[in-house]
Amino acid sequence: MKKIKSGIFGLNPLLDGGFNESSTSVVIGRSGAGKTTFATQYIRRGLHDGQEGIFVSLDENKEQIIREAVEMGWSDILDYLDDELLVFIDASGREFGNFIRKELPAFVAEWQGANARIAVDPLTPVMWSTKDPYEQRELIGFMLKETRKVGTVLCTLEEHGAGDLTTPETVIPMYLADCVIHLRYRSDGANVTREMKIVKARSSRHSQLAHPYHIVRGLGLIVEPGEYRRVTTTRIPVIIRQLLQRPDLPKPVAERLEKMLDGLTDEDFRDLKPDQLLDLIRNEYGTG
Ligand SMILES: Nc1ncnc2c1ncn2[C@@H]1O[C@H](COP(=O)(O)OP(=O)(O)OP(=O)(O)O)[C@@H](O)[C@H]1O
Ligand SMILES: [Mg+2]
Repeated sequence: MKKIKSGIFGLNPLLDGGFNESSTSVVIGRSGAGKTTFATQYIRRGLHDGQEGIFVSLDENKEQIIREAVEMGWSDILDYLDDELLVFIDASGREFGNFIRKELPAFVAEWQGANARIAVDPLTPVMWSTKDPYEQRELIGFMLKETRKVGTVLCTLEEHGAGDLTTPETVIPMYLADCVIHLRYRSDGANVTREMKIVKARSSRHSQLAHPYHIVRGLGLIVEPGEYRRVTTTRIPVIIRQLLQRPDLPKPVAERLEKMLDGLTDEDFRDLKPDQLLDLIRNEYGTG
């Protein structure tokens, strides 16, 4: 899986190297969590490497987003706009169903294969454009499928309610996306806490921990590694290899398992004990 750097300081190691190329990610957080900052930072990282950026804004207008980026210390955005490496699509106030079904395909036909970075900020109004969950799913699914033809997609989603990701407007996009990142933001009085959690990342080993993050002018989001370390030791695969020598395991099963152990590390087994695992396998294959 080819990885692209997220642009968010500290995030790549937690995602096994970054976002998967041509994948779709969703960043969820309540107002003030840093969604627009995340999206801008992601696009800007690509621009620095010569990759084109497309910012689809469904909420704020182009001028507002640019003003915020300049405030952040990212005025190079203006040069990329001049050079047309960065393109804004201001869809705020539009009828989204129509926009996605009619105008998006024409845009995609023009940009197909560009290997650009696309940010959609926020996806929420698309979810709200219809009450019918079937139509919501179809609309979001179509939109993600189309935009993926242009490159690697990052959508943001507003979080309302309890903050446990169970609200209807988050469930469908989370389900459809390849990677889901939750920006947990709490502000009561002078106390501000920000924690990032990777909820899922398809085809990636990723951190399961909650990571404090900060927003710093000039840099943007910075994520703390905390206790997260990629475990690369192979003590458990070695033990399993030894257990596979036992005569009560059918040879074809043992050979298949032997192959499966390639590239695995202790991290993949977490708290699973080798002999426990082998018992389960023996049971499944009728030799237990
Ligand atoms: N120029 C800046 N300097 C320092 N911190 C900033 C700057 N701009 C934004 N921030 C911090 O980033 C926070 C989040 O901003 P951002 O607009 O990205 O949030 P958001 O999740 O998009 O919110 P909303 O849902 O309201 O659009 C701000 O509340 C502020 O704490
Ligand atoms: Mg925003």
